[in-house]
Amino acid sequence: MKITVADPTGFCFGVQRAINALETALCSSEANGLVVSIGMPIHNPQEVERLKKLGLVVLNNAGEISEGATVFIRAHGEPRSVYDELLSKKCRIIDATCPFVKRVQDKARELTEAGYFVILLGNEDHPEVRSIVGHCTNSIKVVKTPEEAEKVLTYSRIGVISQTTQREEDFKQLVDILQNKTKELEISNTICQATVERQQAVRKLADSVEGIIIVGGKNSANTVKLYEIAKSRGTDAILVESSEELNGGWLKGKSVIGVAAGASTPEWLIATISKAVEKMTVG
Ligand code: F3S
Repeated sequence: MKITVADPTGFCFGVQRAINALETALCSSEANGLVVSIGMPIHNPQEVERLKKLGLVVLNNAGEISEGATVFIRAHGEPRSVYDELLSKKCRIIDATCPFVKRVQDKARELTEAGYFVILLGNEDHPEVRSIVGHCTNSIKVVKTPEEAEKVLTYSRIGVISQTTQREEDFKQLVDILQNKTKELEISNTICQATVERQQAVRKLADSVEGIIIVGGKNSANTVKLYEIAKSRGTDAILVESSEELNGGWLKGKSVIGVAAGASTPEWLIATISKAVEKMTVG
């Protein structure tokens, strides 16, 4: 059995930076071993469990946070209103918003302030999308599918941007549809390069293996996109969060397996899965 790991794969710059900031905060005397995160700090359940053992407390919303707490803001960022609430509670903020997400927040705000109606390609329930929308006062609409894009009304000026983890082909398709909705289309492709590189690596790997294992949280947008890409190449693909989900029947008859991981999947989990596959095929 040959196992090839995609390159690049796993933690991206923004997630690594956020985890480093969180670990430093958890170890600092100021936080007293207690740091609060609004929602999962990273879309990977195994990594969250590890961080909880170091003293992380995960709450659902800013309303649940006590006065003066040390609060970690994850790579996805938060809407402006959350910062206001934390400041009013005199919280200490560890802001790990990824600089590339910050760039999308700023772009969205600039475009709306300049009078553009902004179309954001993304999933409206995703925390990153909520953070981007929450940095604009108005005139922004989230669009997920070509069908939704077709329903966009006409505007004199439209700005188009994207959630950082979307597929390039979907952004191009959205741009094509919006060309007919306005006289002035301002295009800002804000898909993150780390996302593009990980998607390209999966395309390449999927074409050269008999099966591909995508490792990562099932609630991670970029991990699920990698899985969809592998499937769309006609490759037998599975998405697993842990080695317990590996199944001998799926591995049977395959001699070349690919392993790839989302940007929120830690290195140690990729290594654990690769070792488990080796063990299952040798034993
Ligand atoms: Fe940032 Fe890109 Fe990762 S936006 S969090 S570096 S996928």
